[in-house]
Amino acid sequence: MLSKKIQNALNNQIELEAASSNYYLAMASWAESEGFNGVANFLYTHSDEERIHMIKLVRFINERGGKAVVPALKEPISKFKNLTEIFDIILKHEILVTSEINKVVDACLSEKDYTTHNFMQWYVAEQLEEESLAKNNVDKLRLIGDDKGGMYLFDRDIAALIPTATPKGK
Ligand code: FEO
Repeated sequence: MLSKKIQNALNNQIELEAASSNYYLAMASWAESEGFNGVANFLYTHSDEERIHMIKLVRFINERGGKAVVPALKEPISKFKNLTEIFDIILKHEILVTSEINKVVDACLSEKDYTTHNFMQWYVAEQLEEESLAKNNVDKLRLIGDDKGGMYLFDRDIAALIPTATPKGK
């Protein structure tokens, strides 16, 4: 049985994953309308992954006899200056998600809930990949700057990153 503290921590994480999914969906839609189809595909996939992260938490809480809360969400930002802004936001957002996951892991240790601690290790590993991927994209865009040709190639080449955005076994 989950303690109230762990249940609340997991429900907060559900909200963050759901908000992330919505956030990336808004970015995907913007990229598609701006003609960045490669980036749009990458972000639609990323949005789907965040939804999977959310559902894993919902089901885990329910399997442990708790009560998962499906949250109401605020409308995400939908206007962006350029791709650099989008990927900067993603990197900052993923760093925030990692720190929130670490808080859940801390709560598991203080409550001696080793089952949830074990479950959360999947998220710890996932964040390592997500942060590294986000940082990689930010670094590339820094090099490209305002160069239109570079932006075109970035949009074309990001397709290759879509499968590796998903960790094995998902
Ligand atoms: Fe599910 Fe990108 O954190």
